[in-house]
Amino acid sequence: MKYRILGKTGLETSVIGMGTDQFYGEWGQNFSQTIIDKIIDRAHELGINFIDTAECYGDHLSESFVGNAIKKREDWIIATKFGHKYHGFQKQRTTHFDVKGIEEQLDNSLKALKTDYIDFYQFHSPTNEEFFNEDVWAFLEKKVSEGKIRHIGIALIASAVNDDDMFQLNQAEAAKVEMFQIVYNRINKKAEEKVLPFCQKNNFGVLARIPLARGHLTGKYNPDVTFPSNDRRSFENKEQTIKQLEFVQTLKENEVPPNANMAQWALSWCLQNPIISAVIPGMKNLEQVELNAKAADLDF
Ligand SMILES: NC(=O)c1ccc[n+]([C@@H]2O[C@H](COP(=O)([O-])OP(=O)(O)OC[C@H]3O[C@@H](n4cnc5c(N)ncnc54)[C@H](OP(=O)(O)O)[C@@H]3O)[C@@H](O)[C@H]2O)c1
Repeated sequence: MKYRILGKTGLETSVIGMGTDQFYGEWGQNFSQTIIDKIIDRAHELGINFIDTAECYGDHLSESFVGNAIKKREDWIIATKFGHKYHGFQKQRTTHFDVKGIEEQLDNSLKALKTDYIDFYQFHSPTNEEFFNEDVWAFLEKKVSEGKIRHIGIALIASAVNDDDMFQLNQAEAAKVEMFQIVYNRINKKAEEKVLPFCQKNNFGVLARIPLARGHLTGKYNPDVTFPSNDRRSFENKEQTIKQLEFVQTLKENEVPPNANMAQWALSWCLQNPIISAVIPGMKNLEQVELNAKAADLDF
């Protein structure tokens, strides 16, 4: 495993982190505590020390799996998020970016994660209006001073990167934000234009989410793929999926070295950019954990 310093926080994170959007069962498969214990133990053995979860991956369900699986709290850097409430499979989440709502979510996250503190507490893809709230900023700062939160972050909404909307980045100092989680992968490189140069100049840590384009960049899906109805990818825009998977085929032919594992290549592609502190692919089984962890050492 390789490690990088996550911007001004000074924390040393494994370049391969673990996403946990899968754990609450919307990716075609339900998980038990037993399998998650195995996934997290193996990740730990392979040097992964960063885990990203959220309040609304189920009603604190992924957090709870993670909290039960982690053996030594100090071995892990845990990032979670606030701002949403989960109401069931494919049901619209409600948003709760007010102080009272966040206080409740923070308590529930700490309980689910079985910890006294959260390393990174991230605004969960807020709109500019949801983000710009000085009462919330003061509340978060208080929780930092109480030791319940170590660092504040923003998991930027995808459109903030795609539409060059720099509002939240420009307000980060005022809100005591120290890191950003962004969409970044070989298909979506838009962040290279403004967001990443800004983060580099101001020494913000950056997590690249969806580094495998929700599995598309593993090269295992053909454009005519049909995902099962219990897989959230079955609800994605069909035309866009076909377009994306056709593009993946051109990448396979023109960029991925022969015999390379495409998932590893895609993770390594993100990490070639030194501004990326870590990628956080979602992983569903031990094979994926092993392949992804090993991508840290590959140079294509
Ligand atoms: N707004 C936000 O804050 C936000 C939004 C999205 C994601 N996130 C975070 O970012 C993380 C990553 O994004 P993501 O999980 O949506 O997408 P992703 O990491 O691009 O793709 C993950 C999927 O790729 C497949 N996969 C992973 N490793 C593989 C390997 N080695 N070989 C073959 N297939 C592999 C698995 O699905 P299959 O095997 O079923 O194909 C897995 O579920 C999330 O888990 C979450 O923590 C945050």
